[in-house]
Amino acid sequence: MATTTIKLPAHVDPAIVRHCSLFDRRPTYDNPYETVIPAIHEGPAVFFADNISVNQPGWVVRRGADIRRLYADTEYFHKRGNTGFAALIGEDWDMIPTELDPPVHHGFRSQLAPIYSPTRMMSLQASISNRANEIIERFRARGECEFVRDFAVSFPVSIFLDLLNLPQDRIDELVRWVNDLIHRDQHDLRVAAVLAIKQLLVETIADRRRNPGEDLISQAMTLEVDGRKWTDREIFGHAFNLYIGGLDTVTSNLGLHFHHLATHPDDQETMRRNDHNSNVVAIEELLRAFAAVSNYRICAKRYELDGQVMMPGDYLVLCSPLAARDPEFYESPHEIRFDRRPSHVTLGNGIHRCLGQHLARRELQTAIEEFFKAIPAFTVEPGYKVPFFLSGVIHIKELPLRWS
Ligand code: HEM
Repeated sequence: MATTTIKLPAHVDPAIVRHCSLFDRRPTYDNPYETVIPAIHEGPAVFFADNISVNQPGWVVRRGADIRRLYADTEYFHKRGNTGFAALIGEDWDMIPTELDPPVHHGFRSQLAPIYSPTRMMSLQASISNRANEIIERFRARGECEFVRDFAVSFPVSIFLDLLNLPQDRIDELVRWVNDLIHRDQHDLRVAAVLAIKQLLVETIADRRRNPGEDLISQAMTLEVDGRKWTDREIFGHAFNLYIGGLDTVTSNLGLHFHHLATHPDDQETMRRNDHNSNVVAIEELLRAFAAVSNYRICAKRYELDGQVMMPGDYLVLCSPLAARDPEFYESPHEIRFDRRPSHVTLGNGIHRCLGQHLARRELQTAIEEFFKAIPAFTVEPGYKVPFFLSGVIHIKELPLRWS
């Protein structure tokens, strides 16, 4: 049922228009994985929503099998300009590789793959563990922390700063910008955030031209595409992609995973007893069950799905939280089964599958393992109602943990 005053494209049947509260950009005290998401799975396989992103109507696909297929479909759906970050400041650079389409995408992605390989990411293990421990040490003796503020936000940012060889005292700025850009609606704040991130990255690129090192920007300067080195604009586009792709995603997953462990003592106990390899398997199930990120596509050619027609220029959201809880795809999708070994789309599918997936997994594993080593069984502060936030990246706003 239509609940909105948006101007509908002529090819969209008004009967298929609905508001999708999953993208409301507001807090809720109901766990969306138990409320909003199952409710969407009772509706049509595909519908048109007024609000898939800020001021952006578009198609929502509900079924896991469709989401999987469309993630990988680069013929009917493209990504160029789909994030809108460059347009926010009146520019037209691409986030690399996420806003590139084939065949250009392949030239850049194939060069980046070795830099983000499992082996390269394994070589960062000691510094990732050190960062986790440094942060945990700040609150360990207190017997409590506000997990999102005290750990989940700063941990991936500290690793990002290490990857770029930037000083750790920039954490607060980086956190503020990512928050303004991804979680706030005010246009001027979002514009200011893009400009500030751009300035930091452009200055860092200029510095690395003069003083190359081992950091990711210096490494990008050695890469080639079409027989030439990457330009500064392309290196910036990649660094911006890392900033957008590698911080908030990890923060939201950490919040959701730790919330589950704090509210399910048996699962926490199992993971405390597990060896590393069993926890690697358990974390895949947490990744599956608490998929948080939605990604966007723009229709490139007329496409028909379940009787609905998408036309070139239409926006579409591929919502991994919906894929994660599709009862047609998973048996008992709301049960967390550590031995499930699920295939999932939490990290995407097809050519755009998460470039940082090996780092992401390492960060999640390290956070859980170092927390377990330093801190005894933890729970959520008694009586506290946990605020979730509904948006293109589902996350928890505050998670007060207690231990004794
Ligand atoms: C748990 C944390 C993470 C989640 C859930 C996640 C999720 C995703 C998803 C779903 C995609 C596919 C986007 C699409 O198809 O439109 C993606 C792509 C990407 N991610 Fe991640 N990500 C995470 C962590 C990271 C980290 C730590 C980095 C940086 C090192 C990173 C960098 C990227 C990049 C550069 C792409 C674009 C790949 C391409 O288009 O070829 N991500 N991520």
